[in-house]
Amino acid sequence: MRRYFFCVNAILLLLVLTVSSCTYEDYEIKQGRGIVCSNGMVVSAHPEASGIGTGILIEGGNAFDAAAATAFALAVSYPTAGNIGGGGLMVIRDSDGRYATLDCREKAPDSAMNDMYLDEEDNIIKGMSTSTLAASGVPGSVAGILEMHSEYGSLPLKKIIQPSIDLAREGFPVTSRQAKSLNSVRKRFINRNDHPVPFVKDNLWAEGDTLIQADLARTLERIRDNGTEGFYSGSTADMIVKEMKKGNGLINHNDLENYSAVWREPVTGMYSGYKIISIPPPSSGGVAVMQLLGIMEDMLNEQPVFHSSEDVHLMIEAERRIYADRSFYLGDPDFVEIPVNELVNKDYLIDRMSDFDTLKTSSSANISHGLIVAPESEETTHFSVIDKDHNAIAFTTTLNSSYGNCIVVEGAGFLLNNEMDDFSSKPGYPNIYGLIGGEANSVQPGKRMLSSMTPAIVEKDNNLYMVLGSPGGSTIITSVFQTLLNVLEYQMNMQQAVDAPRFHHQWMPDLVYFEKLEADSVLIRKLENMGHNIQWRSSIGRVDAIRIIKGGKMEAGADSRGDDMACGY
Ligand code: GLY
Repeated sequence: MRRYFFCVNAILLLLVLTVSSCTYEDYEIKQGRGIVCSNGMVVSAHPEASGIGTGILIEGGNAFDAAAATAFALAVSYPTAGNIGGGGLMVIRDSDGRYATLDCREKAPDSAMNDMYLDEEDNIIKGMSTSTLAASGVPGSVAGILEMHSEYGSLPLKKIIQPSIDLAREGFPVTSRQAKSLNSVRKRFINRNDHPVPFVKDNLWAEGDTLIQADLARTLERIRDNGTEGFYSGSTADMIVKEMKKGNGLINHNDLENYSAVWREPVTGMYSGYKIISIPPPSSGGVAVMQLLGIMEDMLNEQPVFHSSEDVHLMIEAERRIYADRSFYLGDPDFVEIPVNELVNKDYLIDRMSDFDTLKTSSSANISHGLIVAPESEETTHFSVIDKDHNAIAFTTTLNSSYGNCIVVEGAGFLLNNEMDDFSSKPGYPNIYGLIGGEANSVQPGKRMLSSMTPAIVEKDNNLYMVLGSPGGSTIITSVFQTLLNVLEYQMNMQQAVDAPRFHHQWMPDLVYFEKLEADSVLIRKLENMGHNIQWRSSIGRVDAIRIIKGGKMEAGADSRGDDMACGY
């Protein structure tokens, strides 16, 4: 822990020394979990990234400058999910209360085909959508970060990105978790790359070893100097296309040049007087959380008790039905009609729960999508930022699996996503995480694959109240949903709410996953007696959140399941 304090403060010191209007001593910089700050805060999956984002706030940047800086810093310091070779989704609220969402999700290349992951007998070709060059969608992160920054940022891009260039070039000490994680995928890196990659060294990684990424530093410099063209055309694009041609990759120059991020209308809804603002399709997250909250508003006990068997049973049964809807209805709204308003309609939700039995589990085999008129990896990352004026951003970004497809673009130093696996390779069949995809999420050229990412912002009395989101593939939705209830119903503070044990049901497979953290064996026994099939998982989601408390102060929730850290001043 001391190491984090040292490295973050060193970065802040470097940044602050470049500014004449303030000195390091002007501010009390805090770092940790559960901290409270008055002037601005970044909560992310890596201390280096939270430190860099906070440094930008201190230099006079707003939340959007800090978010751009944090996103680039995560691409350097948190290669398992931070990225420039992947995509993401953002929810933004400015200090005047205007909100927006930006979709920089990857897209299927133009030559992608509906049956591209099937063999001649129509069977799914194992690993093709996860472990090969054909697994990569056209990356969206750089377009999204720069679009968000040009609309909302106040400092020049050069200033925002430079700390990440320096971090990549000079390196940083890996944490103990990172050392273990890099060692666990060492063989994949060696097998899938025909050139040296920075994530493999002669010996195994140990805590404190320095990770240097010189090629990545040069790619970030090209972005600094040329904006989106520094990534989507010129030498970076040449390197991506050259990498694709080494195997079955599909991304070509046209795909890269034609990529753009899309501003979309947020999904919004009220829950017990709070306004929730979240992401629309191509993520299922916003719609699903609104559906779950809609059910809770009508059906949760008036005096809810955290992890009582009654509350948990209700939440499981709601999750079962809402994930069935996800599987059938959701996909890219540019390609399929999605009945968003109907899905979140109260009458529909009440009807959806009409066969709910307070004493007995239902069976997913007997539950299909509702009548109205897909799986992801665990390795995504989310960060939340609020500045002194209460501009706010929730940004979730992903390579899909841990380190994407583990293929590094030669010469450019960044990892490629394997997001194509978020499509349904074969409708009706599960992807690597067991989610069943439907026709709405089939592969089509130029289409965005369905996501579960759920960046969200909450308002109370028209003021900013909370910013949150999570990684965790299909479990993102339940992680955000349960964290919201932890604060809004179970009266937890932000840190307690993100650390509390979670559970997850996704319709298929018909199992309830509980975290090993769950200590209440009486609860588990009661659920088993109702018929629930329980399975244990080491962790579910990793929520990084900020809540506004008394006096307009910011209270951090940095999930202790990872190296996640809040930094603020
Ligand atoms: N790949 C994770 C998600 O988009 O849901």
